[in-house]
Amino acid sequence: MVSGKSKICGVMGCPIEHSLSPLMHNFYSERTGTDLIYAPFLVEPGRLKDAVSGAYALGFVGMNVTVPHKQEVMKYLAELDEAAKTIGAVNTLVRMEGGFKGYNTDAAGFKRVMKESGIPVKDRSCILIGAGGAAMAAAFVLAEEGAEKVYVLNRSIDKARRLSQAIHAHFNRSCFIPVELDAYRDIQETSMLAVQTTSLGMHPDTEHALLEDSAFYKRIQTAIDIVYNPSETKFMRYVRQAGGRAIGGLPMLLYQGAMAYELWNPNTALASGVIEDAGKRLRERLEAFV
Ligand code: ATR
Repeated sequence: MVSGKSKICGVMGCPIEHSLSPLMHNFYSERTGTDLIYAPFLVEPGRLKDAVSGAYALGFVGMNVTVPHKQEVMKYLAELDEAAKTIGAVNTLVRMEGGFKGYNTDAAGFKRVMKESGIPVKDRSCILIGAGGAAMAAAFVLAEEGAEKVYVLNRSIDKARRLSQAIHAHFNRSCFIPVELDAYRDIQETSMLAVQTTSLGMHPDTEHALLEDSAFYKRIQTAIDIVYNPSETKFMRYVRQAGGRAIGGLPMLLYQGAMAYELWNPNTALASGVIEDAGKRLRERLEAFV
C-alpha cells in the first residue's frame, strides 16, 4: 500500500515499456514487506541530466539506468563506485548527501551468477563474445576472479583491443587477447568458459548467433549468455548440442536487480528463494510476451 512514507525508486531508459525491472523490484518489496515502490520512466536522449536532478529533488532513494544512458549518467553523479569507474558504465544510483552515487550491479550480478552456479573462473581460459558495455562488466569480473586468459571475439576488433587495454591498465596484468572474428579457429584450448554479451539471438531475431561453426562450440564447457529472451538462445542451443552447459541471462538480470535492491535497502538481504520466485514471475511475463 503506497503511503506518504513510501520510498520511491525506478528505472530510466529509452525505450522502457518492455522493462521487467518494475515487476521484479515490486515483487521484492511485496515479499520482504518493504515500503518501496518502483516505476518505469521514459527518459529521452538529451533529458538525462534533468531526469537525474529531478529524481534527486523528488527524494528518490535510488534509480536504475538502462540503454542508452549507462555511460552518460556518470557525468551527473556525486560519487562513483570504483568498479563502475573502471567499467565505464553505471546501472544503479543510490541516494547520498549531495547527489546520487553510481554503481554497476551488472558486474556484481554476473559475479553472483558464477558463484551461485558453481562456475570456477580462476586460472581458466575464457572466451568473451562482444566488446560493448555488457562485455566490459563481464571482463572486469573475469579479470578480478583470476581468469588465466580471455580471448575477446568481436565484430569490430578495435573495440576488443580497447576493452583489453582498459582491463590490462586496471589490473596490471596482460591476460586479454583480442581476436578477429574470422580468426576464431586459432583458439585451440578446450573446456573453456564462454560469455556471450552481444544482443544477437535476442527476441524477435532468435535465429542469430555470432558463430555458426559447431567445431567452435566443442571447445566450450560452460557458457553464459546475457540474453534472457528467449530462455534458450541459438548460442545456448549450440553449446548444449556440443555437450556443454549453458546458462541464460535471466539469473544475471535477477541478481543485478537484487544487488541494486540491497543497496537501496541495506537492512534487507534477499533470500535465494525470493530471488528464485521473482525468476518464476519474470519467466511467466516473458512467456506472455512471445
Ligand atoms: P551493450 O551495452 O548491451 O553491451 P553495446 O555497447 O552497443 O551494447 O555493445 C553491443 C555489442 O554487440 C558489441 O560488441 C557489438 O559489436 P561491435 O563492437 O562490432 O558493434 C555487438 N553486436 C551488436 N550487433 C551485432 C551484430 N549484428 N553482429 C555482430 N556483433 C554485434
